[in-house]
Amino acid sequence: VPASLIPTLPGHAYASAEVFAEETREIFARSWLCVARSSQLSEPGAFRVVDIGGESVIVTRGRDGSANAVLNVCRHRGARLCTESEGTLPRALRCPYHAWTYDFDGRLIAAPNLADLPDIDRADYGLVRAQVREWLGYVWVCLSDDPPSFEQTVVAPANERFGNDQTLGRYTLDRLSVGATITYDVAANWKIIIENFYECYHCPTIHPELVEVLPEFQQGLATQWTAATQGQFKGADFGTGIEGFTIDGAAGVTPLPELTADLDRQYFGMTIRPQVIINLVPDHIIFHRLFPLAADHTLVVCDWLFNPEVVANHEDTTRSVALFDRVNQQDMAVCERAQLGMSSRAYAGGGVLVPVEHHINDFYDWVRARVSSVRTAEALSTVG
Ligand code: FES
Ligand SMILES: [Fe+2]
Repeated sequence: VPASLIPTLPGHAYASAEVFAEETREIFARSWLCVARSSQLSEPGAFRVVDIGGESVIVTRGRDGSANAVLNVCRHRGARLCTESEGTLPRALRCPYHAWTYDFDGRLIAAPNLADLPDIDRADYGLVRAQVREWLGYVWVCLSDDPPSFEQTVVAPANERFGNDQTLGRYTLDRLSVGATITYDVAANWKIIIENFYECYHCPTIHPELVEVLPEFQQGLATQWTAATQGQFKGADFGTGIEGFTIDGAAGVTPLPELTADLDRQYFGMTIRPQVIINLVPDHIIFHRLFPLAADHTLVVCDWLFNPEVVANHEDTTRSVALFDRVNQQDMAVCERAQLGMSSRAYAGGGVLVPVEHHINDFYDWVRARVSSVRTAEALSTVG
């Protein structure tokens, strides 16, 4: 491979059920994952069920206001406790099989006939808990009993984009209101979706509306991703005559409440590995969460967050939502198109990164360090 090109991962890394199973264990079951908007758990007993890290997990709001995450498996005989994806538990979480009953935080509070047995300590039969944090107005869960540092693996990568610990706070993500949520059911590997977000080489080809608003993306340079590594922490500038981050460049809505003038007319993009992508503009935030379901299947849940006044006053957010919904549809279509080649013998040895994509190799290194079957696939493909 010439020095100006860097090899990609081999196709097998994106198509193999074995690689996906190892990624589930070594990445998704060990990392902090963003699972729900805090406001979706508005009252004690409110719950969401999510599939992450190979487990079904119930996220609930406790009586004391804290968020809890428990595995969706009864400690009696293993029955699935919740089969709905969201709702509000009336008083407790009661297993439909033999009626073992758990509090919102997973403590076993009642089980028929169990009180008669003096050698049973109910505390030993609570639901299996996962680690939980709330940050940026989202609930983050880690299935590991030995979680990585939340500060180092979630907070620091987000602040890195701005080169300081203050700027992200000015976007007040924890206080914004959800104006729209769209879920994209994508027939592509989660890594293809992340890699696609890391580069703008595709921008001039597939994102005509986006490059109209952000003309520097016309060059295909991923300034939004490379700036931080080059010590340049500015965002991408809106084009001359562009009034807002909207489908036609017309004015958007009331800006975020505490944004400073230096952030006006700027777009910032960032990722928090392994499954969050955040795009920040002066009047809204586009917040993506990836939920990988199989090697070739990923759900992407995308929230549009606005100043609470925008939602309360029913300002028209249609043109704001339409821009990134269009971008998402364009991105997901090319990710599905790329997935189609992953199991071909033409791609067994992978492809190449051109210079404006070289930073994607950092993500490959991050995956390689965690997933041995990816390293094995690479070794085999270079021998072949
Ligand atoms: S399996 Fe849940 S109470 Fe028996
Ligand atoms: Fe894109």
